[in-house]
Amino acid sequence: MCGIVGFSSHSQSACRPLVNGLLRLEYRGYDSAGVALESADDLRVFKKTGKVAELDRFLAEALPEPERGKYTLGIAHTRWATHGLPTETNAHPHLADGGRLALVHNGIIENYAALRAKLEKRGCVFVSQTDTEALAHLIATFDTGDDFMAAVSQALKQVEGTYGIAVLSLRHPGEMIVARRGSPLVIGVGEGSTVVASDVSAIVSYTRQVIYLNDGDIARVTPEGADVFTLDNVPVARDVQQVEWDAASAEKGGYAHFMLKEIFEQPEALRNTIRGRLDRTDGTAVLAGLNLPPRELATIRRAVVIGCGTSLHAGMVGKYLFESLADLPTSAEQAAEFRYCNPIIGPHDWAIALSQSGETADTLAAVRESVGKGALVSAVCNVVGSTIAREAGRGVYLHAGPEISVASTKAFTAQVTVLLMMALKLGRTRRLSREAGLRLCDEIAALPDLVAEVLKENDRIAAVAAKYAAANDMFFLGRGILYPTALEGALKMKEISYVHAEGYQAAELKHGPIALLGRATPVVALLNDVPGKEKTVGNVQECRAREAPVVGIVTQGDAAARHCDDALFVPRTSAACAPVVTAVALQLFAYHVARLRGCEIDQPRNLAKSVTVE
Ligand code: G6P
Repeated sequence: MCGIVGFSSHSQSACRPLVNGLLRLEYRGYDSAGVALESADDLRVFKKTGKVAELDRFLAEALPEPERGKYTLGIAHTRWATHGLPTETNAHPHLADGGRLALVHNGIIENYAALRAKLEKRGCVFVSQTDTEALAHLIATFDTGDDFMAAVSQALKQVEGTYGIAVLSLRHPGEMIVARRGSPLVIGVGEGSTVVASDVSAIVSYTRQVIYLNDGDIARVTPEGADVFTLDNVPVARDVQQVEWDAASAEKGGYAHFMLKEIFEQPEALRNTIRGRLDRTDGTAVLAGLNLPPRELATIRRAVVIGCGTSLHAGMVGKYLFESLADLPTSAEQAAEFRYCNPIIGPHDWAIALSQSGETADTLAAVRESVGKGALVSAVCNVVGSTIAREAGRGVYLHAGPEISVASTKAFTAQVTVLLMMALKLGRTRRLSREAGLRLCDEIAALPDLVAEVLKENDRIAAVAAKYAAANDMFFLGRGILYPTALEGALKMKEISYVHAEGYQAAELKHGPIALLGRATPVVALLNDVPGKEKTVGNVQECRAREAPVVGIVTQGDAAARHCDDALFVPRTSAACAPVVTAVALQLFAYHVARLRGCEIDQPRNLAKSVTVE
C-alpha cells in the first residue's frame, strides 16, 4: 500500500535518502513512485510507473550528482492505485499553485469529488484522477504566503476520510509540513537531518530515535526535528522513542526472498515471543499487557477475536484455544464485517484485535467500535507503537521482528503462540488445572525447536512442491483446530503462486467441493496425529476415490502417510500446538510452488502488506 518518505537537511542532498526510503517501503506493494525535491529557488518533480529502481535510473539521468546537492529537502511516495489508473499523472507528488506546492498522501479523501467541483469552479485545473490532487489545490487556496502550517490545517479541517501527508511549498522554502489522520506517520530525528516515513522500516537506517504522530497531529519538520501541534495550532508534546529494530533486521540476510528468510526466522521469532512469558511454577503465562486481576478476568463472558487475512486465520485458531483451554465462548470475526454489522459487544466482552502491522484500517475501526461500546479491548500486534496497539491501550506484542514479505508467515505462528499463552493464562483463572497448565507450558516452550525440525524438511518439501507446481487448482482440508490452518495454507498458496487454492473443513468437502476433484486437483490434507485424524483419513479416501492426488501433512512416523501420495512430516505435538508446526510446512510448500512458477514472491501482484484503506 502507499508509502511516504520525507527528508530535510541543512547540507545533505535529499535524493538518495528518499530513494532508499522508498526501496525500504517496496514490500508494502505499489504500482508507481515519485519524488519532489526542493532547493531555495526551485521545486522539481520526478515520477515513474513501475518499480522504484526505474525512478532511481530516471533520476540519475535527469538530475546527475553535482546538481543534486542543492536539493536538501524532499518528499517521496509509492502509490497503490485507489482513485485512477496507475499512471505517471496519477502518481504522487501532486502539484498545485502553479507547480510551487507538492503533496504526497496516503489514505482516502472521501469528499474529494465535492472538493474538486468547488475548486474547479474557482479556476483550479486538475490533471489527475486522484483524490489527493484536490487536497493539494485546497491547501494552495488557503496559503496566503504567511503561515504554511495554518494553511495546511485549514485545508485538512475540510477533509473527510483518512490521510497521512507531507507537503512542500516554494512560498515557504525549507519547510515541510506533515499530518496524519488514520494513516501512520513517523518522524525520525537524526544528526543534522530529519526523516519522515509512513513506516518505521524506512527510517531505521538513518536513525532509531523516532516520534510517532497521533491522529489529528500536524508537524513542522526541520533538519533539527519536528514541532507537533493540533489542527487548532495548540502545541502537543510527543516523546522521542527508541526503535528496537535495526537496519540489518530489515535486510534479506542471504536468503533469496524475505519470505524465505522470515519462514526460517520462526524458531528465533517464537523464542522472542515466548521469552519471559511462561510461569513454570504455577503453570500459567505472564503477559504484562494483560495484567488484569483474576476477578476481572473471571467476569469476561465472551471473547471476540478480530482481524483480516492471515491475522483472521490466527484468530480462528484462537477460538478453538479459548474454548478448549479456558471454557470461554469465542467467535472470530473478519474486521470489516464486524465493524459494519452493529456488533453486539459491551462490558464483559473481550475484543482481541490481531494485526501484524497494527495499521489495518478495518481492524483499527473494529477496535474503535469495541472501545466505544465499553468492551475490554486488547491488541496483539507486531509493530511496536502502531496505531492499533496504541488505541487498544492494552495488549501483547509479538516480538517477531520486522515482517517485510507481503505474505505473512512468522506473524501467524507468533500470533497463534500468543493466543495459546492468553488461553493458558485465562484458563488458569478458570478450570484449567496446574498440571494441565504446566504441560502446556512445556509444549509452548518446545515450539521453537519443533519449528526448527520442520525447517529441516525444506528440501523434501521443495521436492514434493515440484510435483504439484503446475496445478491450476488445489484444495486444503483441515478439521477442528486445524481447519483455520488449512485456510491459511490455501491463502499462502494463492497469494504468492497465484494457484487457485481453497481451504475447507474436511467434512464439508462432500457437500459440494468434491464435485471439482479429479486427477488435476491436488488435495493437501492436514492429517496430524491429533483427535479427529481418523475422520480426516476417511475424507482423504473420498478424494483418492476421485483420483485426486493427496499431499498429507503427517506426524513423524505416523501410519497416516500410507493414505497419501506424498507426505510432509511435522513433529508430534498436542492439538493446541499443531497449527504452528503445520503452518510452517504449508508456508514452505507454497513458497516452493511459487518459486518454481517464477512468481515475484515478496511482492505478489495486487497485494499490499498493510491495507490502510477500507
Ligand atoms: C494484508 C496482507 C496480509 C495480512 C492482512 C492483515 O492483506 O497482505 O498478509 O494478513 O493485510 O494485516 P495485519 O497487519 O492487520 O495483520
